[in-house]
Amino acid sequence: MATQASAVSAARSKTAPKNGKTNGKTNGKSRDAGRSAGDVKNLALADKGYLRMEWAALSMPVLQQIKARFEKEKPLAGLRLAACLHVTSETGNLALTLKAGGAHVALCASNPLSTQDDVAAALVDAGIPTFAIKGEDQATYYRHIAAILDTEPQMTMDDGADVVGVLHKDRRELLRNIIGGTEETTTGVVRLRAMAKEGVLAYPIVAVNDALTKHLFDNRYGTGQSTIDGMIRATNRLIAGSVFVIAGYGWCGRGLAMRAKGMGADVVVTEIDPLKALEARLDGFRVMPMSEACVIGDFFCTVTGNTEVIREEHFKRMKDGAIVANSGHFNVELDLETLAKIATARRTIRDFVEEFTLKGGRRVVVLAEGRLVNLAAAEGHPSSVMDMSFANQALSAEYMAKNHKKLEKKVYSVPQEIDESIAGLKLASMGVKIDTLTPSQRKYLASWQEGT
Ligand SMILES: NC(=O)c1ccc[n+]([C@@H]2O[C@H](COP(=O)([O-])OP(=O)(O)OC[C@H]3O[C@@H](n4cnc5c(N)ncnc54)[C@H](O)[C@@H]3O)[C@@H](O)[C@H]2O)c1
Repeated sequence: MATQASAVSAARSKTAPKNGKTNGKTNGKSRDAGRSAGDVKNLALADKGYLRMEWAALSMPVLQQIKARFEKEKPLAGLRLAACLHVTSETGNLALTLKAGGAHVALCASNPLSTQDDVAAALVDAGIPTFAIKGEDQATYYRHIAAILDTEPQMTMDDGADVVGVLHKDRRELLRNIIGGTEETTTGVVRLRAMAKEGVLAYPIVAVNDALTKHLFDNRYGTGQSTIDGMIRATNRLIAGSVFVIAGYGWCGRGLAMRAKGMGADVVVTEIDPLKALEARLDGFRVMPMSEACVIGDFFCTVTGNTEVIREEHFKRMKDGAIVANSGHFNVELDLETLAKIATARRTIRDFVEEFTLKGGRRVVVLAEGRLVNLAAAEGHPSSVMDMSFANQALSAEYMAKNHKKLEKKVYSVPQEIDESIAGLKLASMGVKIDTLTPSQRKYLASWQEGT
């Protein structure tokens, strides 16, 4: 434990500005792109950021083992890597791991509201150019993406495919440098598969989300717990006894439903896929269309990866004070533009809680501007689950560095050996042992002759 914590501290830059004084290139003032040290809210927050990263590292034993190996083997030596991820304490540990592997990492936020400003400051201090400020506007968000691209990356690491999008649309001259990339989330993978299908994807990408050690745990247990956490931190409302409507019963929706039920909610699921709807029903939840659920819900949360899932016709029929959030990748799941148009008044009533008053006086309450509520109003997934997601990221980057010449311009799943090795390491770190096949079991499973 102490080793992991001190490993994070060891990242502290020997030349870092002391007492929060900046080097003139940070503290939210730098606008020079390219090789700038970064653009963060306040470098004086670095000490707090280091402590936050140390705390996360204690629950990330798999990533720490990979980091120790990377330090010796340097599988990413000299590689320029542009990462666009939620800038949290777990991402900080991933960035330090990639750096330990020899990569020159530049990092920006994959969502305007998900940055932990203290972590961003610590990363700049640790020598990782970081461009991320919590609450940055849309223009700054895209300027930060441009800044990491100005480092002329050879590899991209995305969460939502925004970097890939900008590269393919606006910065095509940089594509020639790129050997490959990785993608973290469902929505990004959906976009990349669409690009590959149209034949426009310019380089191979590993879909980290496809790994079982990613979506089975991160999307389910991570999003499940942290979404409830974000909704509670924002509102301090009681979940028990409430009607909790969840749109989407995919990996995230299943996790959220499980946790909302555990806290005593009456969970209602909306779906468009008959199989998922059936599964939700047999898991014990009420299933109905949003046109019916909108009338009865106290809490709403979308996790579909789709657009306009809750829209005008639903907002207009909600109960007074209904609380609406999104934990899918983009805030388009809620039609907030129309909500703003039909509202007669709006005010921020507490942090991340905005109340819209509709004609007739009923109020709809939107959390965190409809952005991923778990990252905006809480701290995102617990480190222990990101340990596996980011072990997949680090090992997929290594895989891409080694194998890119053999790969086509397609979306690849994480190789099974990587997935299995991460599961094995995670179990070992938890002190959980499992059985192994006996020779006769192995033979039985490989044969077909034996019957009743
Ligand atoms: N908040 C986070 O930290 C976090 C973590 C992981 C993934 N995500 C994001 O959450 C979203 C969901 O991810 P997932 O892995 O659960 O995806 P998934 O594909 O497993 O599940 C999405 C579900 O939504 C359903 N759906 C689609 N349109 C719908 C609609 N109009 N109404 C109701 N249901 C609808 C689909 O049928 C599917 O079952 C994605 O945008 C993903 O990127 C967020």
